[in-house]
Amino acid sequence: MITHYSDVQLHTLSIQGVKQIYKERLHFPIIYESSTFIRFQISSYATLSFKEAYTPVSPAHVAFQVPYSLFYESASFLSKSHLLLLQQENGEYIDDENGRRNLYFRDGDGHLLEIIAHERVDETVLKPLGDLRIMYIREVGFPVASVPVFREWLKSKLSMKTERDQDVFNFVISGTAHAVVVSKTRPWIPIALKALPPRVVVTFGTPDLSFIKELGKKVENAKWDSHLLCISKEEYAFQVQFTPDLHKDVPAQLNLPF
Ligand SMILES: [Fe+2]
Repeated sequence: MITHYSDVQLHTLSIQGVKQIYKERLHFPIIYESSTFIRFQISSYATLSFKEAYTPVSPAHVAFQVPYSLFYESASFLSKSHLLLLQQENGEYIDDENGRRNLYFRDGDGHLLEIIAHERVDETVLKPLGDLRIMYIREVGFPVASVPVFREWLKSKLSMKTERDQDVFNFVISGTAHAVVVSKTRPWIPIALKALPPRVVVTFGTPDLSFIKELGKKVENAKWDSHLLCISKEEYAFQVQFTPDLHKDVPAQLNLPF
């Protein structure tokens, strides 16, 4: 099974601009850097990467899970970062209800980012990292032409699951990884941002080598590239990586459903 997002690569028009936001304001350590690529360690088991390319940026949506008890510390750090925070639809910045807290913000390329916390998630399992206190990457958004078609592909090929099937907005989940599959016609909250499909390369981690081997046989266009199984679906590039350090029981220990 997929346990987590191990890397999410976003598109940028400026590596220098990315450094000013993610290194200088958000204090993420850089673990690799070249003239057109940069990678940050953002949680114990996840990295966030940026590739510079001369093409318009479509904003991606990425949400970071933080501990419920530390949410306001994380939000306070964010508000001091001078990044653009977004008002929720009710005019408040932080939404805090029914055991769920979240706050949206944007980076220099306009990517729509979010910190989110759930009371039911056990905070003692994964050590939060850095000033944003990130435990894991929870969400990556996938605007698609047909939610059912993309959802069923994630279910049948990547063994992801849903709590219920919906046709316009659907969480498709495996471990800590929540794919937010949305119709291209359904704008992102909280600012009714048009849901253009972003250029992302999403890497899933699994501690199960046989899962990767089976996947390689199941997907028509799968190919291997330096220990990663690479597959694509519609506009999206996926990679699957063998990550034995994150145990398969961690999602259950966190109280996550799948
Ligand atoms: Fe979200």
